[in-house]
Amino acid sequence: RCDALIFDLDGVLTDTAETHYRAWRRLADEIGVPFARADNERMKGVDRMASLDILLQRASRDYPPAERLALAARKNEYYVQDIGGITPDRLFDGVHALLADARRRGLKLAVASASRNAALLLRNLGIADKFDHVVDAAHLSRAKPDPEIFLAAAHALGVSPAVCIGIEDSLAGIAAIHAAGMSAIGVGDAGVLSPADAVVPDIAHLRLSDFVIP
Ligand code: G6P
Ligand code: MG
Repeated sequence: RCDALIFDLDGVLTDTAETHYRAWRRLADEIGVPFARADNERMKGVDRMASLDILLQRASRDYPPAERLALAARKNEYYVQDIGGITPDRLFDGVHALLADARRRGLKLAVASASRNAALLLRNLGIADKFDHVVDAAHLSRAKPDPEIFLAAAHALGVSPAVCIGIEDSLAGIAAIHAAGMSAIGVGDAGVLSPADAVVPDIAHLRLSDFVIP
C-alpha cells in the first residue's frame, strides 16, 4: 500500500546538481582549490557545510570555522544568483504528469530536500503549490542518511512511514528513506543506486502503476 510520495528535489525534479556544481566551481577557482566533477558527485544530497568540507579536502592549508562559514555563504550567493533566473522549463520532463497522476490516485505529496533554497527553487519552477508539505531543512538537525527529514515529511502529511515511497537520486537519500522504514525509488544509474527497491533512469520513466495499486 502507498499513501504518499516524498520527493527529493535537486537531481530528481530538476537538474540543480549542475547549478550547485557551477557555484562550487567558481568558489574553488577563486580560492585556488582543485575541484573535479567526481568531487561534485560525492556532494549529492550532502548539506552545505559538509559539501564544503569535501571541497576543502584538497586545499593546501587549513580553513578555520569562521572562514568556512564565510566560504559557504559565498557559494550560496553564487547559487542563489543562478537559481534566481530559473524558470519552469528547467523542470525535468514528466514531473507535471507524474504529480497529476499521483493526485488522481489520491496520494499525498511532499518534498524532502536538504537544501535551504528548496522553497525558492520550487517557487521559481512553478510547482510550490503542488505539494501538501515541503520540509524546511533549516528546522532539521541531522543530515541524510539520517532518516529525520523523511520522518518529518511523513509526520507532516499525517501518514505512517510504512505507506510512503521516497524518491531520490543520491545514495545518502536512499539510505535515509530505508532508515525511515519507507520504500525507495532511485532516479539515475541502476548500478550506482542498487540499494533502492527500484530504479528508473529519470523521473519521466517513473510509472506509478508499477508501484501503486490500483
Ligand atoms: C541538496 C543538494 C546538495 C546541496 C544541499 C544543500 O542536498 O543535492 O548538492 O549541497 O542540498 O543545499 P543548500 O542550497 O542548502 O546549500
Ligand atoms: Mg538529490
